[in-house]
Amino acid sequence: MSGDCKKGELESGFQPPFEHFSTQAIHAGQDPEQWTSMAVVPPISLSTTFKQAAPGKHACYNGPKSDCALFYDLSFCTPSWPDCIFCLAFASGLATTMTIAHLLKSGDNIICMNDVYGGTNRYFRRVASEMGLEVSFIDCTSLECLDAAIKPNTKLVWIETPTNPMMSVLDIKGCAETVHKHGDIILVVDNTFMSAYFQRPLALGADICMYSATKYMNGHSDVVMGLASMNRDDLHVKLRFLQNAIGAVPSPFDCYMCNRGLKTLALRMKQHFKNALVVAQFLEVDPRVEKVIFPGLPSHPQYNLMKQQCTGSSGMITFLIKGDLKNATTFLKNLKLFVLAESLGGYESLAEHP
Ligand SMILES: Cc1ncc(COP(=O)(O)O)c(C=O)c1O
Repeated sequence: MSGDCKKGELESGFQPPFEHFSTQAIHAGQDPEQWTSMAVVPPISLSTTFKQAAPGKHACYNGPKSDCALFYDLSFCTPSWPDCIFCLAFASGLATTMTIAHLLKSGDNIICMNDVYGGTNRYFRRVASEMGLEVSFIDCTSLECLDAAIKPNTKLVWIETPTNPMMSVLDIKGCAETVHKHGDIILVVDNTFMSAYFQRPLALGADICMYSATKYMNGHSDVVMGLASMNRDDLHVKLRFLQNAIGAVPSPFDCYMCNRGLKTLALRMKQHFKNALVVAQFLEVDPRVEKVIFPGLPSHPQYNLMKQQCTGSSGMITFLIKGDLKNATTFLKNLKLFVLAESLGGYESLAEHP
């Protein structure tokens, strides 16, 4: 039971917010001086090609005072976030996952947390495995299990925290130490549920932090996009090459929309957490509810770990209704404000049966 805190009030102890988050999200990479038009809002160019000064020479790509810089992706905005040097944008969260998987070669082993977004599980099990990658699904909440599962051909470990849908919290720092003890194995953290506002996996030792920007990072349920951030130059060079070679790129308009969404990420996340806390506390005392799993509540088994590695929790709540599937279906069909739809991270409230 969460009896320790009053409705909507937090027990203190989460990490303090990352400094200057909103200022960075609003200003980094957005200096009007870089566009010939001096536009305050970064403009977009829909042109799919740009005139070259000579064969192979892009006259003004990334050049100063150049509208060709409008051929931008979100990497212009995110690099100055303190723990992240490089960021690449992709056509979707799953396109990001696929591109990261292309870092490996046939015969390599991927260890994936056994509770992850269904699409990630499906991609590893039914696509990557078919192409010669070996995938093991392991309970990475146990560092001993993770350690024991690492094999000589393990090249990548994929985790997500909190997990979708069971909201287990994984020790990112512990996972990074365990994985890196075995050599050059890439630790990827899917940070979709927390967003860059509440959790910084790179600062905790991850090699790549990925997002389905379709969710909180854009935040308005009108863009499908993925992001991968990293500090390692070698990974950035490889992923940038693959992003182009595979063609998993986002559209200029989606970049524009997501860049706009990021400006309000801090405000949105704070409110999501506040609202979710009230809903979770309400559900926790409802006699028709069997169990509430919300990492922002003291009743969550890994609440202390959450407080150690996060600055808050998001709006994601899992709960079990007493009874069976029929009861759950009746509940979902009778929702008034919440919409029965899959996805998350927008301003609207959604509910789904995973
Ligand atoms: C945790 C998580 N990761 C990745 C994805 C995939 O993202 P996208 O829908 O942008 O391909 C999702 C989508 O629901 C997700 O919830």
